[in-house]
Amino acid sequence: MSTVFLNGNYMPIEEAKISPLDRGFLFGDGIYELIPSYFGKMVGFQGHINRINDGLNAIGIELNWSDAQWQELCDTLSKKNGAGPLGIYLHVSRGTDTKRFHAFPKNITPTVFAMAFEIPVPKTPDLATVGKGYALISSEDLRWKRCQIKSTSLLGNVLHFQEAYAAGSQETLLYNSNNELTEASSSNIFIVKEGVIATPIEDNQILPGITRRLVIDILAKDGSLSLEERVITLDEVNAADEIWITSSSKEIVPVTQLDSKVVGDGNVGLVWLKAATLYSKNKFSY
Ligand code: PDD
Repeated sequence: MSTVFLNGNYMPIEEAKISPLDRGFLFGDGIYELIPSYFGKMVGFQGHINRINDGLNAIGIELNWSDAQWQELCDTLSKKNGAGPLGIYLHVSRGTDTKRFHAFPKNITPTVFAMAFEIPVPKTPDLATVGKGYALISSEDLRWKRCQIKSTSLLGNVLHFQEAYAAGSQETLLYNSNNELTEASSSNIFIVKEGVIATPIEDNQILPGITRRLVIDILAKDGSLSLEERVITLDEVNAADEIWITSSSKEIVPVTQLDSKVVGDGNVGLVWLKAATLYSKNKFSY
């Protein structure tokens, strides 16, 4: 039975109760984070906390927790849930209103909920054991125009993820109406062509993924691979030698099939191996 945090108290998940008038429930009016934690050590903690603060500011939720408060919550949740490999989920909604009304209520206290659930321990990157890589489908990105906000209103993402799931694929790669790559329904995307790695720029069309940022920083520090942040066309995606997806729970996953075609030669690529190895060695330094 997992222990969760709700509005200042730790309790068994079965005891956590939220009003149906909570704006998170009624409107998806909130911000969330998912921080990977392995045996008590978090990956990218500061980046995740900066992003939750950015999201709260962007939608006008005043919570004003210090970094130390978040750290204490994450550490306590990890300990209370066995301190193994955990995804620490943080969720702040605007709070519980007295009626259903779209405008922000005055003097409302945000609802703070957090839980921890088991995630797989990432394997040491290895071509012999990595398996086949993911199969993705592609689809026009039909979400909203503020994808940089990690909003709990995830219906657009859910519908895109479901498209992949229903097709027996692992993710949906998304492109905008100009046929430019954005991201995937719950991950960021990188492509590789002739040894050069590229990923879409951080703008309103993508979530500024913490894993994406760590990959960019770790590769820049190492200096042996070249990486560009730029606009990427769907044609480039289709002609890529390698495609990877990144997220906190998945780290860097190679993609070997896109729609009905194989990616590159159909095998997991050597640039992935190098990048994933560097990531795996350096991720705890951030
Ligand atoms: N998803 N893009 C989207 C739309 C995402 O939902 C996520 C993360 C990412 C990757 O971000 P990060 O590297 O910070 O995890 C990109 C999380 C894990 C989720 O919704 O469960």
